[in-house]
Amino acid sequence: MNKHDRSNRALAARDLRHVWHPCTQMHDHERVPMLPIVRGEGAWLIDADGRRYLDGISSWWTNLFGHANPRIAAALADQATQLEHVIFAGFTHEPAIRLAEELVRITPPGLERVFFADNGSAAIEVALKMSFHYWLNRGHGEKTRFIALTGSYHGETLGALSVSDVALYRKTYAPLLLTPILAPSADTYEGEPGETPQQIAARRLGELRMLLERHAHETCAVIVEPLVQCAGGMRMYHPDYLTGLRALCDEFDVHFIADEIAVGFGRTGTMFACEQAGVSPDFMCLSKGLTAGTLPLAVVLTTDHVYEAFYAEYSAGKAFLHSHSYTGNPLACRVALETLAIFRDEPVLERNRALAAHLAGRLAPLRDHPHVSDVRQTGMIVAVELVADKASRTPFPAGERRGLEVYLYGLEHEALLRPLGNIVYFMPPYVTTQAELDHLVDTALAGIEHALAR
Ligand SMILES: Cc1ncc(COP(=O)(O)O)c(C=O)c1O
Repeated sequence: MNKHDRSNRALAARDLRHVWHPCTQMHDHERVPMLPIVRGEGAWLIDADGRRYLDGISSWWTNLFGHANPRIAAALADQATQLEHVIFAGFTHEPAIRLAEELVRITPPGLERVFFADNGSAAIEVALKMSFHYWLNRGHGEKTRFIALTGSYHGETLGALSVSDVALYRKTYAPLLLTPILAPSADTYEGEPGETPQQIAARRLGELRMLLERHAHETCAVIVEPLVQCAGGMRMYHPDYLTGLRALCDEFDVHFIADEIAVGFGRTGTMFACEQAGVSPDFMCLSKGLTAGTLPLAVVLTTDHVYEAFYAEYSAGKAFLHSHSYTGNPLACRVALETLAIFRDEPVLERNRALAAHLAGRLAPLRDHPHVSDVRQTGMIVAVELVADKASRTPFPAGERRGLEVYLYGLEHEALLRPLGNIVYFMPPYVTTQAELDHLVDTALAGIEHALAR
């Protein structure tokens, strides 16, 4: 193996000799190319052979302002020459302090306390433990369970996976997990014929009420992905569900955990999805877009009320114990601050509205396609559901892997599309131009026809 050969072929071969990749059956790479990326530029990724791919999925929904964004890179470089990391117990630093202040300012009212973590799943672990521990400190050790929505995804560490309901990730590890109480999602795709999104939300809230009547005494929190259940297939629901959820959580004395890891930072059209329902959760988990896709970082925001349940003399043993070595990493905090500065300096949400409208217009004709059962959109997330039979909405058998064909077609035509099963979706960086969106859509349309013709 020639270590000076930096071609796609040579780097891929070296990779496959030692590296084990996430979310991958490695055997697939006997057919699916492993692509060594050497550079990013705006919404584009460039591989070792100089081929380009328009990143239609923001590199796992993280990227907001383009790859190798010069403003973010400069902030990161500057911070790296000052302080790269410091233990976050007993010590602090200005990037973390300023970031906490900024996040408290821009998130829904009442969220006053910021706990740092270093990835989305870790933030979920923190929120679950903190909710449980709150009730314990308040003398309610009987509250040990969580309510999650059908089709939800909150990450893949054991706690986060426990409150997730996507069989692909959960099934194998089920014997290791906590058992959540599942409430039916207000997912509009699963509604009755003729039912409006509001009616679906109202009906699902009724079902949640019944669950709470039975289980509130043993329940710490209800955890949801506000407005869009992403990994579960970009399933979407009406903001009324969140408004009703807030009221039910208050009525039944359980916490409301909003996992805005994927939908926060403008994805759904507002800075945070909860804003569209006018609600403040008890815990809000943020990651991904927090650093615009540059470095791993996460936070859990909560209320003074929750914080106070932990604040006591050391001897009371009420302190919240959850620590990661890289908690509050200064480089990541500084990058997050620069991300928020870009939101302040530029009309990001306004520009996104135009991009979202453009995507909507381009994809609307697909509604009449004989193998498309749904085209749905919330802000900068658009999903196209492919089916074998439109009238009965019968999905293609998973084993046919139609989505994989769309992915492979995309790579051959300069686009990174990564369907979730039979759901082709678009979640582009906010710097994508309308012409680039056209390229993504054109490639996806041709890729869909290619996959259907198999
Ligand atoms: C809603 C949601 N929660 C949690 C996570 C987990 O985040 P991470 O992949 O950083 O662990 C994800 C990741 O896709 C997510 O979409």
